Amino acid sequence: MKLQNDLLLRAARGEKTERTPIWLMRQAGRILPEYRIVRERCGGFKQLVETPELASEVSIQPVDILGVDAAIIFSDILVIPEAMGLPYQMIESTGPWFEKTIQSSADIDKLKIAEASDIQYTTDAIRITKKALNGRVPVIGFAGAPWTILSYMIEGKGSKTFSKAKKFLYTEPKLAHKLLDKITKSTINYLKGQISAGADIVQVFDSWAGVLSPEQYSEFSARYISAISDSITEVPVIVFAKGAYFARKEFGKSSCSVIGLDWNMDIEESRTLVGPGKTLQGNMDPCLLYADFDTIKSATEKMLKAFGPHRHIANLGHGLYPDTEKDKVKFYIDTVKNFKF
Ligand code: CP3
Repeated sequence: MKLQNDLLLRAARGEKTERTPIWLMRQAGRILPEYRIVRERCGGFKQLVETPELASEVSIQPVDILGVDAAIIFSDILVIPEAMGLPYQMIESTGPWFEKTIQSSADIDKLKIAEASDIQYTTDAIRITKKALNGRVPVIGFAGAPWTILSYMIEGKGSKTFSKAKKFLYTEPKLAHKLLDKITKSTINYLKGQISAGADIVQVFDSWAGVLSPEQYSEFSARYISAISDSITEVPVIVFAKGAYFARKEFGKSSCSVIGLDWNMDIEESRTLVGPGKTLQGNMDPCLLYADFDTIKSATEKMLKAFGPHRHIANLGHGLYPDTEKDKVKFYIDTVKNFKF
């Protein structure tokens, strides 16, 4: 079906656009009271992820309420460890928790390589969302990067330092590669399933990229992300590696179409490092949205000028924080949409 608003896809492919497209990481959920109502109604986060009709409803909410140029499908990166054999729980106001973690070679052998059909609730949610949107905006599919997923499989929960996961890389590098390889294969199957279901573009989230050294990052993360983007030839791939300022040049040479920047990464320097053949995404500090309207406007316009009119997708440098006011979020989006170069 032809899209009425394909700004995001054109920007990702490097084509000219009338204005800069915008979507926000963590736009589905968190800040919207409308989301919380649906979440309460179905009994919690995981139930919502696993109920395609409702996951679709909250994926579309930010398109209707905030006016973003794409819907990201409501799910989580942790569906992959679960499909491989490590179920997770989402504990209220604490975050994810895994009963079983990976400690040994035998634990890795027990994991299965996930198929898209193991996560059918999300591919179904994409199908329903595509149908309901009826071509209004594109749908973004996503998965976690293998290193970020490995971190949760080893640590069993979030961490400030990810020192257990890093210890595993230093002490058991062969096992780490064996595990990363299984996660990579699962992720490719899953993303291909999302694309078959209708995802128009996919993003790989490497949320914990910034805890690794440049050498470790290249060996244990970037090469697996590149393997994923090499095998996704159907749609553009966005790579968002939070904190990995040292990997911009390497991603610039990879097959992805778009590179996400966080707010620590200088915009001009990033353009030079990645070269002219990539689109950049980002990169406002989500905390800017706590500021007053005038401050938001001037910082947004400064950001847009630094990126320039082409090969830019506006976003934040990481996900929205839950206590951000909806009006400020909408104002940021409208400032981008109304800006004239
Ligand atoms: O972006 C979107 O709006 C789509 C949905 C989405 C969620 N998680 C829903 C969610 C996406 C793309 C994710 C990705 C995700 N999940 C990442 C990578 C992005 C990032 O922020 O770095 C990570 C690291 C996770 C793992 C995860 N899920 C954690 C650590 C937590 C608890 C803390 C938190 O962020 O709230 C979650 C829960 C989660 N995933 C919520 C949502 C809306 C909050 C649950 C709720 O309150 O309903």
